[in-house]
Amino acid sequence: MGLNIQKTMIATMGEVLDMLPEGDIKKTIKQSVQNKADKFSSLEKAFEKMCSKKYSDETMNLFLNGWKATHLKMLPIYGLSCRLNQLGMASEDKEQKLAFLESSAYNAKTSHEDLGMGFDAISHGQLYDEFAFSMVKSDEWKLSKYDTKEANDFSSWVYRSMLLESIPYALCINMFSEFYNHAEYAYSFLTFKYSMDNFYGIKGQELEDAIRYIDVHNQYETEIHHFMAVINAIEKYEKASKEKVSTEIMNQVISIYIDKVCEAIETIAKKFD
Ligand SMILES: [Fe+2]
Ligand SMILES: [Fe+2]
Repeated sequence: MGLNIQKTMIATMGEVLDMLPEGDIKKTIKQSVQNKADKFSSLEKAFEKMCSKKYSDETMNLFLNGWKATHLKMLPIYGLSCRLNQLGMASEDKEQKLAFLESSAYNAKTSHEDLGMGFDAISHGQLYDEFAFSMVKSDEWKLSKYDTKEANDFSSWVYRSMLLESIPYALCINMFSEFYNHAEYAYSFLTFKYSMDNFYGIKGQELEDAIRYIDVHNQYETEIHHFMAVINAIEKYEKASKEKVSTEIMNQVISIYIDKVCEAIETIAKKFD
């Protein structure tokens, strides 16, 4: 029996949107995602292709290096919280100070699991290494010769934008990133579980250990909680700054995010033959 995934990424995203109250954020994400429906089916095809047989270690190294570049964004999250802290510390208005600092705290909440807080300090970086090692039995994939330009471009767009662009822009990146990651992990969990089981002979407990990096994001709905945390961060920022995070910025960020991540994953998938 081949790989047969019933739930599309768009369907998974729809379930998360259903949890949101009616409002600009829900409407904007829904519309932006629908406008990019073709990109999501091409992302799904890429993950299916990459999990359709056992590829050489050389090819897998390209994937492991590139995929990591599209995730694990603790540094930009930290950078954005530092920016919000600066605004909070500089404010002499008690209420405004508190709202900036709360916005920072909610934003930082999106890195708690990634740091391994409450999980014996086992970071998601470490889990990713274990996931990678289970397939290629080495750390070679970390070498820059396995870099994919498009994946690195995505990663530096996230870092630079969260540090240098306006705070609404930066918050929108973090918000959409968590939203997108939930759907991507839900999908890739199934493709990788299938591939590791069928082509790598990883079974039972060994499989559970190997795929833990993806599973921790699914099992505890980690990314949904992170997404909700950024929505709280946006609300607190709006209260502190007395400005609304515009739907134009939200739209723009979501569109760039999807285009860039799709370009990265598609470029990697093209190397799989
Ligand atoms: Fe994570
Ligand atoms: Fe997250």
